[in-house]
Amino acid sequence: MRSFEHTASPVRVVFGAGTLGTLRSEVERLGRRRVLLVSGASQPDVVDRAADRLGDRLAGRFAGAAMHTPVEVTARALESAADADVVVSIGGGSATGLGKALAVRLGVPQIAVPTTYAGSEVTPTLGETGNGVKTTRSAPEILPATVLYDVELTLGLPVATSVTSGVNAMAHAVEALYSPEANPAVDALAEQSIRLLASGLRRIVTDPADPDARADALTGAWLAGTCLGAVGMGLHHKLCHTLGGSFGLPHAETHTVVLPHAIAYNASAAPEAVARVAGALGRERDAAAAMYDFVVEVGGPTSLADLGFAAGNVPEAVRLATAEPYPNPRPVTADGITALLTDALAGTRPAGTPDFSWLTDQVVASFAHTPDPRMRRLLTDLVRRLHGFANDNDLTQDEWQFAIDFLTRTGEITSPTRQEFILLSDTLGVSSMVDLLTNSRTTETTPSAVLGPFYVPGPPAVAAGADLSGDLPGTPLWVDVLIEDRDGTPVGDATVDVWQSNEDGFYDLQLPDLEGPVLRGRLTSDADGRVRFWTILPSEYPVPVDGPVGQLLDGTGRHPYRAPHLHFLIEAPGHRQLITQLFVAGGAYLDSDTVFGVKDDLIVDFAPGEGTPPDGRALDGGWRRLTYTFRID
Ligand code: BEZ
Ligand code: FE
Repeated sequence: MRSFEHTASPVRVVFGAGTLGTLRSEVERLGRRRVLLVSGASQPDVVDRAADRLGDRLAGRFAGAAMHTPVEVTARALESAADADVVVSIGGGSATGLGKALAVRLGVPQIAVPTTYAGSEVTPTLGETGNGVKTTRSAPEILPATVLYDVELTLGLPVATSVTSGVNAMAHAVEALYSPEANPAVDALAEQSIRLLASGLRRIVTDPADPDARADALTGAWLAGTCLGAVGMGLHHKLCHTLGGSFGLPHAETHTVVLPHAIAYNASAAPEAVARVAGALGRERDAAAAMYDFVVEVGGPTSLADLGFAAGNVPEAVRLATAEPYPNPRPVTADGITALLTDALAGTRPAGTPDFSWLTDQVVASFAHTPDPRMRRLLTDLVRRLHGFANDNDLTQDEWQFAIDFLTRTGEITSPTRQEFILLSDTLGVSSMVDLLTNSRTTETTPSAVLGPFYVPGPPAVAAGADLSGDLPGTPLWVDVLIEDRDGTPVGDATVDVWQSNEDGFYDLQLPDLEGPVLRGRLTSDADGRVRFWTILPSEYPVPVDGPVGQLLDGTGRHPYRAPHLHFLIEAPGHRQLITQLFVAGGAYLDSDTVFGVKDDLIVDFAPGEGTPPDGRALDGGWRRLTYTFRID
């Protein structure tokens, strides 16, 4: 069971196209009158429009927001309107950060109007730089009161910035998924965020002005920011803060390069979280490679060297990143981070297989016109699973060739009297699976078991009470069974074929010197549904091992034995055929029958007989008695 804590964020979110038009009413909604409007240098026209909207509510403007929120900049901005009773920030993470720094200093609420996918507008965290040192703090009063997401403001965001800013947002969602504080709400937000950002960014690359694509990306960024505000971040953020803070690398670009490598680093320690990332990117697995491929697809940067990071900086970056690491699923070691940074420096694709789903889809599509829907379904699923098997196991050509040779040999040894394919199906448990699915769908009737290769149709008729053993040596066994229907009514006149091995584990077919059919026969139930006959106690025996199946058993350390049993094939007019086996309780291999035919209900006491047998037969040694009631449908 998963335990968790979750506090829902109280931030008011207004999302849509043209929501900037509501800016003044949102200010009034907060009961405020004097706005300090802050931004960076970009999109001055948007800031002008916001100023127009605010009209006489505008108390001051400041357009000098800078990366990492330097305290000197904040001090200058404060001079613009020290008596403001609300701060409105318009822009990316720098504008939002400056807005936060001002709002907490003034003790007033903030309305954030993000124009990138930074996400910080929905977090209670503020990072500021003073004297070259960045300090970060979190407090409820840092969280903006209102966020206006205006999709129109993002239409002009350059594709390259959209991509890096979007992947930066994805990083929040990815790290939220493996955060120790994660919870089901955050998981759901994070997955949906990655899905929306991936889809949105892909479409933005082809059509930057597509409003729906922009809306998806912005929604994803909001959800990612919500994750960032709800749980702590791990290795990826620590690395990016180190690279940005100490080596001056650009923020969003660095996130974009590092994210696939951070996922690769944590993949083994947080398999479920990372599998969710892969799924959200539309892949079965290999989230790290999938993220790298995604970045390449949308034209993002993949190498730290391209961002100006030098190989000589790796040791210092490792030292900084491993000092006071953030909580992270996989322990943060110097060797591990050195390898990670070396890969990120070179832009190496993390290990993983390419996405081959297009190939599977093509084959599946080729069956689309199969007239028989059942055949279409079976072939389609078979292909999907075979492809999945090959892909999941990285099947090599030699391995596949071996499998083909194996099947070829299986065919070559197969003859009218030797069915190696059935034996293969038996020893892989497929025969038992299909048998169960077909014949054992109710618990009210006797379970079925596989027919096996030693049944001969039309066995010799045997009179009630006769002996099937043909004088073969063995412990005499008196069989006295009943055939009933589901309601317990005796089924008379049922045809009951029985066959079994001798005390050495051989069927008559395997003993060429033996005269005629032995240890097999056809009986008929009497009016009470009763069938009685003499035979000998069956013995365990190996399935044929001189073919490819024998090699398979040998090569996998499996024994070839079947647990001792008696076969029954029961047919009666108006009833379903029952093919089954009764197993000798206490016999060998009951728990490891090589064809997986044993079911608890079929394990029966072949009890030692006491005194004279029921038919008065004179015996000079011990004997056994098998009594059982078959219930047929
Ligand atoms: C048998 O019970 O006779 C049998 C079943 C499957 C494979 C080999 C033998
Ligand atoms: Fe058998």
